[in-house]
Amino acid sequence: MAACFAARGLRVHAVDLDPEKVSAINRKLPPVHEPGLAELLQESNGQLSASQDTEAAVLASDATFIVVATPSEPDGGFSLRYAIACCESIGRALRSKSGYHLVVMTSTVMPGSTGSELQSALERSSGKIAGEDFGLCYSPEFIALGSVIRDFYHPDFLLIGESDPRAGDVLSEIYRHTCKNSPAIARMNFINAEITKLAVNTYITTKITYANMLARLCEKLPGADVNVVTDALGLDTRIGAKYLKGAVSYGGPCFPRDNRAFAALAARSGARSDLAEATDTFNRAQISAIADVVRGRRRGDDRVGILGLTYKPNTDVVEESFGLLLAKELDTAGIPVVVFDPSANLTRAFTLHPNIQVAASAEDCIAQSAVVVLATPWQEFRDLPVEAWLQPGFAAPSFKSRARVVIDCWRSLGHLADMQGLQYLRLGFGEPAERPVATATSSR
Ligand SMILES: NC(=O)c1ccc[n+]([C@@H]2O[C@H](COP(=O)([O-])OP(=O)(O)OC[C@H]3O[C@@H](n4cnc5c(N)ncnc54)[C@H](O)[C@@H]3O)[C@@H](O)[C@H]2O)c1
Repeated sequence: MAACFAARGLRVHAVDLDPEKVSAINRKLPPVHEPGLAELLQESNGQLSASQDTEAAVLASDATFIVVATPSEPDGGFSLRYAIACCESIGRALRSKSGYHLVVMTSTVMPGSTGSELQSALERSSGKIAGEDFGLCYSPEFIALGSVIRDFYHPDFLLIGESDPRAGDVLSEIYRHTCKNSPAIARMNFINAEITKLAVNTYITTKITYANMLARLCEKLPGADVNVVTDALGLDTRIGAKYLKGAVSYGGPCFPRDNRAFAALAARSGARSDLAEATDTFNRAQISAIADVVRGRRRGDDRVGILGLTYKPNTDVVEESFGLLLAKELDTAGIPVVVFDPSANLTRAFTLHPNIQVAASAEDCIAQSAVVVLATPWQEFRDLPVEAWLQPGFAAPSFKSRARVVIDCWRSLGHLADMQGLQYLRLGFGEPAERPVATATSSR
């Protein structure tokens, strides 16, 4: 956000408690992995500086966006411990500030938080009143990792929960200046904006899960193909084609936890949340469902290779990713596993699973495996030469005389379908009957 604002000509004082992030930003280096961020930081033309000093940043600016983590609690709700500490620092600065200031909560919060705990923390520490002496908004970003910059500059719509019309006007003006499109702006009170944020993500997770449910059904019915079904389904404008691809469980830092937070909110409020709960249950069950497919194809001491550990391509985030959870489930069951990902930082990912091997390359991962699962559809896996899939490798003795099994969770390796020497299985597709296959050592 800081880099996006600065590149649009706003003067930005970025604050983080983490000195490494502060130092990286001041050296114009991306503190997180995000395509285009390095270039954007270079474009900031001295408009962006970073420090660890919240109060100085508030005194030197007109608006403050809070984007601290709001970690999930055991029941699925979000903790405000970092957000409240942050509001207290902002409030201390507001106490001695005479001009108008707008505070915007960007982090995802539980509905009810902005108008209660956050507003109280700001008012207590500033001695001022929200909506009178300063403005307060709740305005989450609907950005996806891997396309944050594009999403920030071209939002489908902007969501603003506001303490008063002036606060909403000031924030709308900032967004109008930074967005490269002209999005609709939905302005409302705090609670409706907080519910809307969770509702957007909960609706999308439900849609993804619906497509996954169709995929698992199609696998049971000879001749059925989930792509054919969802492509047709998506033509209905009441449904739409986005997020309608049957594949694996959704993961990442937002979808799973927003869905659980919705259920927690309903439980705390005495309302029902059957849909959100069913979505979460079905999503978690995807790991064992696909682990069962792997078990069904594995023989003897076969090692399983997993390609892709990030929750989607073009990010390095592995939080709740399908590949990571599948690797852990197979390892827990005593199955030898080797993994590879082009970008994931796996240093801490497998702390409790020391037996999981990390391969040096995709080719190395395949060579070591009798069964390979394409878990994340990175382009570079699609681009592998066919020889990489056919290499004999140094896998377990039980594998020596058989074809390597490739389980394609995304149906993105179609060019392997009729390859002699491979047993190619695309999920979401009801195989008519098992085809005889040649051995793994045959070449083309
Ligand atoms: N990551 C996403 O894709 C995404 C998308 C939409 C919404 N969100 C929401 O945005 C929020 C932040 O998520 P994130 O993934 O960026 O979290 P993060 O943990 O990666 O980053 C939060 C940063 O806040 C800093 N911080 C904590 N307390 C601070 C304080 N008092 N003052 C200054 N800095 C402080 C931390 O050092 C850290 O660098 C969450 O509520 C999340 O749900 C994230």
